[in-house]
This record gives sequence, C-alpha cells and structure tokens, in this order.
Amino acid sequence: MRQIIQAIAIAILLFSCPITWAQQSETRIPAELLEAYRDLESRIAEDPGLLDEVIDTGRERARFCNTCHGPDGSAERPNYPSLAGQNAVYLLDQFDQFASGERKKEWMNMLAEQISVEEMVTLSIYYSQMPLVSADFDPELAERGSMPYDRYCTQCHGSDGLGGEGYARIAGQQPIYMKSVLREYRSGETSRRPSEMHGIVRALSDRDIESLAHHIASLGENR
Ligand code: HEC
Ligand code: HEC
Repeated sequence: MRQIIQAIAIAILLFSCPITWAQQSETRIPAELLEAYRDLESRIAEDPGLLDEVIDTGRERARFCNTCHGPDGSAERPNYPSLAGQNAVYLLDQFDQFASGERKKEWMNMLAEQISVEEMVTLSIYYSQMPLVSADFDPELAERGSMPYDRYCTQCHGSDGLGGEGYARIAGQQPIYMKSVLREYRSGETSRRPSEMHGIVRALSDRDIESLAHHIASLGENR
C-alpha cells in the first residue's frame, strides 16, 4: 500500500512539475518587460514586414555582443553560450537577471544595466530568429549521453533540446559551456536562480556531465 501511495505521489510530482514551473518562470519576469515583448510580438503577427526591421535593428545593436557570442549569436568560442535560436522569453528573463544583478557575470551585468526595455525586447527577438550554427561534439560521448539525457532532461528541455518558454534551449550549445554550467549547478557555486536544475544535477557524475554536454551539442533542428 505504502509503495502504491509513493508511486502515485511521484507520478503527480513528475507530471505537475513542468506546468507549475512554466507558469512560475513566466511571472518572474517584470510585467513591464513581458508586456513590451507581447506587444511587439502581436504587432509582428499583424505586420510580418516589421520582423525584418526588428532583426536589422537587433543585429546592429548586437555587434558588440557578437564579439563574444559569435556571428548572429552562434558561439564560436567554447566557453560562451550561443544565443541564436534561443527562446525569446528565456533571453529576456536572463537579460533582466543580469541587469538586476541576480545572475552574476562581470561583463554581462555591466552591459545589461545599460540596455533599455525596448532594446532588450528587440535583441531577444533578433537572437531567437537566428538559425543556430551548432557546436562541434565528440560522437562517441554524445552517444553515451543519450541515456542520461532521456532519463533526466527531456521532461523540461524536450527530446530535441529546444526547450520552450521558461526553459532554456540547450540543443547545439558549446559542450565546454554546458559542462561549466552543469558543474556550477551541481556544486551550488552559481548565481543562477533556484530551480529544479539544482536538484537534478546532484545525481550526475563527472562522466555523466561530460557525455551529456556532448549529447546536448549533438541535438537540434539542423541535425
Ligand atoms: C565580453 C564577452 C561578452 C560580451 C561582450 C557579451 N556577453 Fe553575454 N555572456 C557572456 C558570458 C561569458 C556569458 C555566460 C555567463 C555565465 O556563465 O553565467 C553570457 C551570457 C549571456 C546570456 C545568457 C545566456 C544563457 O544561455 O543563459 C545572454 C542572454 C547574454 N549573454 C546576452 C548578451 C548581450 C545582449 C550582449 C550585448 C549587449 C552580450 N551578452 C555581450 C559574455 C559576453
Ligand atoms: C524540471 C525541469 C527541468 C529538468 C528536468 C531539467 N532542467 Fe535544465 N533547466 C530548467 C530551467 C527552469 C532552467 C532555467 C533556469 C533559469 O532560469 O536560470 C534550466 C536551465 C538549464 C541550463 C542552462 C542553460 C543556459 O543556456 O545557460 C542547462 C545547461 C540545463 N538546464 C541542462 C539540463 C540538463 C543536462 C538536464 C538533465 C540532466 C536538465 N537541464 C533537466 C529546468 C529543467
């Protein structure tokens, strides 16, 4: 009997988790920022020509950003995140966390502080629309990572790693950047906000993290 109750409790937890989380992460972004984004999104839906203008403005504004984040946001250096193809709401959320100082990284905090709401929205849409040039990976390690990935990660990031609102796209990211993020989560030495990530990575060995990082790089729409 006790085992049955436990199994039901785990099932409820597993199924309800992503839904509650998606709702929570959406409400954490300041209303003003989310509204500005939704407003531009709906204006683009009415007038698709506007998207090209937003992309041009975003690309112009992102020239400096792309010295680190790579051409149109596809990172070429191993320790930087790609922003191309990332979910726009996730990007907005992270900009906002850098601007407020909640998430810490020297350069990023300084830059994000100087960006207006309008620029944040434009940059997020621009990056989300860029096709990602995926990172290189080791095929053997990538194969080894498919088991832990399917077991621990698909629930929130999807089997293709493309994520969704509130969940980062991880597909095609640089393995070295992924490894350092996962290690930071595991050690707790991170300014990333508390999330399910902290609990999930605790069970991972160094070997798991290594193979997961390559598996993640091997995922994505252009594979
Ligand atoms: C000097 C290098 C550098 C420049 C220039 C730079 N960034 Fe970053 N950015 C980083 C690093 C490093 C990280 C990863 C931080 C970490 O490890 O937590 C990052 C992280 C980010 C993230 C979070 C990505 C994720 O997957 O969570 C966003 C969004 C971002 N940067 C946007 C920008 C924008 C927009 C600009 C231009 C205004 C910019 N960056 C300029 C180095 C840079
Ligand atoms: C229950 C949901 C959930 C599961 C399962 C999950 N994640 Fe996450 N993950 C998140 C959330 C939410 C974030 C964004 C946290 C934030 O906003 O700072 C995230 C962020 C990340 C990031 C940071 C992305 C970036 O660009 O910096 C990586 C890497 C990541 N997850 C990898 C994984 C891996 C690998 C697994 C499986 C071992 C996994 N996640 C399982 C919810 C989840």
